[in-house]
Amino acid sequence: MNGMRTVDPLVLECEGGLLRVSSPRTVKRLRVEPDVLDLLLQARKGLPDGWQTNGRAPLIKRLIDFGFLVDAEEEDVPVPWRDMGVAAWSFHNRVRDYPFLDKDATEKWEKYVERISEHPRPSSLPRFHSDKILLLPRVWTQPTASYLDVLQSRRTHRQFQDVPVGLDQFSNMLCYSFAPIRFADAGPLGVMQMRAAASGGARHECEAYVCVFDVEHVEPGLYAYDGLRHGLVPVESAVTRDQVEDLTYHQRFFRTASFGVFTIAVTDRLSWKYPNPRAYKFLLQNVGHVAQVFSMNAVALGLGAALTGAIKDSEADALLGLDTPREFTTFAMACGVPETAPDGLPVLMRVPQTAPSQY
Ligand SMILES: Cc1cc2nc3c(=O)[nH]c(=O)nc-3n(C[C@H](O)[C@H](O)[C@H](O)COP(=O)(O)O)c2cc1C
Repeated sequence: MNGMRTVDPLVLECEGGLLRVSSPRTVKRLRVEPDVLDLLLQARKGLPDGWQTNGRAPLIKRLIDFGFLVDAEEEDVPVPWRDMGVAAWSFHNRVRDYPFLDKDATEKWEKYVERISEHPRPSSLPRFHSDKILLLPRVWTQPTASYLDVLQSRRTHRQFQDVPVGLDQFSNMLCYSFAPIRFADAGPLGVMQMRAAASGGARHECEAYVCVFDVEHVEPGLYAYDGLRHGLVPVESAVTRDQVEDLTYHQRFFRTASFGVFTIAVTDRLSWKYPNPRAYKFLLQNVGHVAQVFSMNAVALGLGAALTGAIKDSEADALLGLDTPREFTTFAMACGVPETAPDGLPVLMRVPQTAPSQY
């Protein structure tokens, strides 16, 4: 052994018959031939003796230059990746610094439009699960809280009173969280929805599936929310509180929530516009915006909300009848009239009463 070994972690991709190696410790991905991969695999614990000879010196130098062969000395996995693991580290690195289209580069912009126009633009309209729809009232209620109240009193509420959410409140929650409010003409990129939440790419890939447990005048069940028609389209599966609790690791929000929402991503809406890995990051950023709007709407309408990303993803996708892998579940939200302490805070929230030595 001669003091060099293969970088750790090493990520191998075999795509369309081509082999590529990368590592979150390196900047570049390398296309490799099987013999080079073989060398990297053999050198996991150290470069075998004699490998620098037999005309391999230039290859070894190249692998060292690109960071795929490193000093054999063990290097610590840096924080936070030793906690988050290789999958997150590798994704982070691959998405980082991914170039975004520079709109000043007119020629590139035209080429980009030409390239994405080769594929039909995926519809921004929700998929119909059935030809039935329960249209919701178009009564736009005035918020009961001022903007300052909303900012100051939005808290996560995990326990809800055993009272139904009113139909108008429910209807407003869905409309202001998930329905288009305006439309904009984006030229060659088509007509875009504008919703209360901002959305990277304005393709609004986020759609809502609603589990109704206790809402005035709405039969309990699972529905797809159709924001364009502002109505609930029944989805075949029945849904119970226990089921949603199980899908969200028994965190208890749905034991008492009046309704729950699973958001999903209709991914091709976004990937059509951004055909690159950064789109996945946008998707997560986008659903965060939607969730914040949902939480703030709840306060403005006299309700409370809790969110969780701890979801049994595949089981949720199956319950919702999603067209996987094109569609997948992204977030779960609970909503109802919150149980509060006399000061309006969530019942289980403890306010610190002594001075801690660290915050
Ligand atoms: C992305 C995200 C995921 C969350 N997941 C959970 C969760 O799984 N369980 C939970 O009890 N709270 C969850 N929450 C709520 C946070 O715990 C809560 O926002 C935090 O404790 C701060 O409290 P506040 O919302 O009242 O300001 C989540 C919040 C966000 C934004």
